[in-house]
Amino acid sequence: MYIYSMGHYFPENILDNDFFDKLDIGSAADWIKDRVGIESRRSVLTQDQVMDLRHGRTNRQTLKEAGAIESIAQMGEKAWKVATSRAHIVVEDIDTVIGGTSVPDDDIPASSCVIASHLGMERVRGFDVNSACSTFVVQCHVMRGLMMSGLTKEGAIFGAERYTTRVDYSDRRNSILFGDSAITAAVSCTNRPGSLKVIDSLVESAPSGWEHIHLPDGKFFQQNGAAVQKFAVTKTIAAAQDILARNSLSTKDAHWFIGHQANYRMLTSAIEKMGVNPDHHLYNVVDRGNQGATGAPSVLSQNWDRYKSGDYIVIAVVGAGLTWGSLLLQKQ
Ligand SMILES: CC(C)(COP(=O)(O)OP(=O)(O)OC[C@H]1O[C@@H](n2cnc3c(N)ncnc32)[C@H](O)[C@@H]1OP(=O)(O)O)[C@@H](O)C(=O)NCCC(=O)NCCS
Repeated sequence: MYIYSMGHYFPENILDNDFFDKLDIGSAADWIKDRVGIESRRSVLTQDQVMDLRHGRTNRQTLKEAGAIESIAQMGEKAWKVATSRAHIVVEDIDTVIGGTSVPDDDIPASSCVIASHLGMERVRGFDVNSACSTFVVQCHVMRGLMMSGLTKEGAIFGAERYTTRVDYSDRRNSILFGDSAITAAVSCTNRPGSLKVIDSLVESAPSGWEHIHLPDGKFFQQNGAAVQKFAVTKTIAAAQDILARNSLSTKDAHWFIGHQANYRMLTSAIEKMGVNPDHHLYNVVDRGNQGATGAPSVLSQNWDRYKSGDYIVIAVVGAGLTWGSLLLQKQ
């Protein structure tokens, strides 16, 4: 499978650390910068809306019914526009669309069908894949399998996350972590100029850990941060090293490393342990926050013009489930 174009989208509303000081929840900008390394995030919500949520003057349902929350399809369309500006994409040729989000507009239908309809992709099989923050890697894993078996020739992958609408703004521990974004990838079994070849994909999980990260229906995001932190660093390293080793490569061969954008301190700890040159570490968590499943692929898309022919790119992600996975890509 080849990724021949990508697109990303970030909402315009900025929530910086000073704004969280103003929420009066005991949040300290220095604590966030030191412990999480996040300075700013983008949100589908304005600062006024977040302030109203914090003080109980509104709630998510009210904002949603008033049309104040950008939909998954609207976000996906904006990411798609970037992808179409980077490559010639023949929409009529696309036969499979895989969507994915942890925070859907509605329980049904699958977001892929809504986005496909918005974009005029009428003759496709559309379905969603949800593996929380690992979703993009799993989407690529599934699409790659379909292409290897000959069931799919041309595809599109979409992801959109809006965790800023699913946190408790009186909770300083979790509300400061997240940002929103959307991504798309145009994929093919044909090697087009400038493509990233998906050489390998790895997907793993430890289901007994499912309670550590949870977004219960109608409630707010919660996690056992300390337990997850250890898991996240260990599995980021394992996912990256395993996929390199089984392709007879080592960390030194990887020109670019992209991890799950949960915590900049955790990412730097992981790359130091792996011996990755910091100049080859790509990230956006510092000014985009933890965007769930769209963090790592949005970094991949933002840096689209930097990859040179022959470059290996390793993406390693971790998420609720618990799940982890990786992709080994090579620029053609
Ligand atoms: C979430 C995370 C940033 C929290 O960092 P931590 O060092 O574990 O911090 P803790 O939650 O133990 O909190 C330590 C103290 O800082 C406080 N604190 C938390 N947020 C704060 C903030 N915004 N400002 C000031 N103090 C804060 C806590 O209340 C706690 O104080 P207390 O003991 O008096 O209650 C970190 O655990 C992490 O990144 N975990 C991994 C997340 C991840 O990878 N998830 C993957 C799926 S999304």
